Amino acid sequence: MGNKIQRIGILTAGGDSPGLNAAIRGVGKTALNHGIEIIGFRDGFRGLVENRRLRLDKTTLAGILTVGGTILGTSRDKPHRMVIDGRTKDMTAVIKENYKAWGLDCVVCLGGGGTAKNALRLKQAGLNVITLPKTIDNDVAMTDATFGFATALDIATETIDRLHSTAHSHHRIIVAEVMGHRAGWLTLGAGIAGGADVILIPEIPYRVEKIAEAIKRRSKRGTNFSIVAVAEGAMSRDDHRAFAAAEKKLERAKSIHDKKQAKIELAAMDVRHQGNTLRLARQLEELTHLESRVTILGYVQRGGTPCAADRILATRLGSAAADLIAEGVFGVMVAARGDGFEPVPLEKVAGKRKIVPVDHSWVKTARNVGTCLGD
Ligand code: F6P
Repeated sequence: MGNKIQRIGILTAGGDSPGLNAAIRGVGKTALNHGIEIIGFRDGFRGLVENRRLRLDKTTLAGILTVGGTILGTSRDKPHRMVIDGRTKDMTAVIKENYKAWGLDCVVCLGGGGTAKNALRLKQAGLNVITLPKTIDNDVAMTDATFGFATALDIATETIDRLHSTAHSHHRIIVAEVMGHRAGWLTLGAGIAGGADVILIPEIPYRVEKIAEAIKRRSKRGTNFSIVAVAEGAMSRDDHRAFAAAEKKLERAKSIHDKKQAKIELAAMDVRHQGNTLRLARQLEELTHLESRVTILGYVQRGGTPCAADRILATRLGSAAADLIAEGVFGVMVAARGDGFEPVPLEKVAGKRKIVPVDHSWVKTARNVGTCLGD
């Protein structure tokens, strides 16, 4: 057994999600029970650069289990590319100096895939780090689940439930855009749970004609309304082909000029994609002659109190992290594994994304109950 662990830092990074405060509480209360002091750093990795602290003790940890968001604040700042006084700088060395000066034995980083990459960089710089899998997208590799997903699934499902009555009353197509970044878990889950007639996910590029045919078949059977659940990252086959070609072009680019051009092309595609859901609704209205309306679920999916499942998941992963730290285990993500957990080396998590396999049981389930997946 190495030196006794005395003091750890904790931060939240990336998009916020329900369950973050439950996880902070799980880590904090368990660490305190191990006799370990815990310091909260605000606003993601920037807090480690600018010494933005929040004292965490039994008093400040009380009452946060059910609170949405993160009491520490968050950011998408990266240690190696941080904007300081208007200039982008590599702040890794500064973080390492502060880590040593403040007598930290470990930093717990609550975040998604991007946070795992940033935590790995700090591990490679010699810091002790541990991450917990947080995101409403459920797209973190090597873990069965991420906290935030179950709550967002409930919110998105309830929204789709509510859209049925207005679609039915007005004989309309309602296109509901669901979050999830470049993974379709949230849309597929909420689409199945909410009984959407069409579910479009990034992993299955769609053809608008196929969707229109499915909606027209419903009309012929006398059901002249439809609910289309579309992932924010879903795209048509043509757009998917163009996007893949542009990404390939960036991969193959050798000169700085070619890299820059390829990045500009991809950025332009990203901007154009932001109007995808509205374009899809218009196309479906033209093809089916049914009125269509759009609902963008947006940040409602990340708000409010975590559901019970997320509270349990966040608390048990947080407390497991503190136990691992007390045992001197570092450089891992505390992955959910069934009812338990598994420390997974950050090298196996960083830079990877868990997307929906096209043969996943949820995909088969959706097809079995007659849902159109756009293909
Ligand atoms: O990763 C969570 C998430 O909500 C994604 O679903 C979404 O695409 C993204 O964050 C939005 O990022 P931001 O909060 O920076 O606008």
